[in-house]
Amino acid sequence: MNRILGFIKIYLKNAFSAFIQIRYLYYDILSSYRKDPALKGKVFFILELMTYGGLWAMVFHRLAHFLFTLKLPFIPRLLSQISRLLTGIEIHPGASIDKGFFIDHGNGVVIGETAVIGSNVLMYHQVTLGNSNAASSGKRHPTVGNEVVLDAGSKILGPIKIGNHSVIGAGTILTKDVPPYSVVVGNPGKVIKHFGVRVLPQNTAG
Ligand SMILES: CC(C)(COP(=O)(O)OP(=O)(O)OC[C@H]1O[C@@H](n2cnc3c(N)ncnc32)[C@H](O)[C@@H]1OP(=O)(O)O)[C@@H](O)C(=O)NCCC(=O)NCCS
Repeated sequence: MNRILGFIKIYLKNAFSAFIQIRYLYYDILSSYRKDPALKGKVFFILELMTYGGLWAMVFHRLAHFLFTLKLPFIPRLLSQISRLLTGIEIHPGASIDKGFFIDHGNGVVIGETAVIGSNVLMYHQVTLGNSNAASSGKRHPTVGNEVVLDAGSKILGPIKIGNHSVIGAGTILTKDVPPYSVVVGNPGKVIKHFGVRVLPQNTAG
């Protein structure tokens, strides 16, 4: 009996937490306005923003993630795939995304089931938060810290961690942890700056 009650308690707690995350859409909109210099005006930017695939992907995802947390079969995946058809952005309903997330341009983005994304992250088109194939169950996808920028075409693979305030440059392939406040570029990804100071090329990520 205690086990059943414990299960119900966790279920309700997770569902409530995912439900209130729907309000994060407000912060997603604010973040888009702050981070996209192409969005102009104080009123009409809302109309322009409604044409952004990145915003619609988050509307679908916030709802799909809530239903996924309720352990509803099929519907969350259906919503995620409808969103992919409309926007070219594929986010698994299981992915956990904090407030203020903005996907600019968006096409070709893939975010895996066990990915965790911190607050105020900016992501460009063609970014993958994927599995490195090293892990086939459990946590398989990256954890991205707060205020991170994932530039166009970067591929972040495996259950690695990207520290807060880091920038992963365009086209970077990353399979190792990144300390906070780093700039990483290349394949394999190398830290080229740490706390704004240039570091030697042999300092690789992780
Ligand atoms: C990663 C990035 C933010 C680094 O910017 P930065 O800190 O100003 O770095 P710098 O321009 O001083 O470059 C430092 C070195 O890294 C190299 N570098 C920079 N970005 C790189 C990248 N994406 N891949 C490989 N090397 C890169 C530079 O050539 C330079 O090398 P050098 O010292 O041997 O000449 C930036 O280069 C980048 O990739 N921006 C992409 C932005 C984007 O995706 N825009 C899409 C908008 S639609």
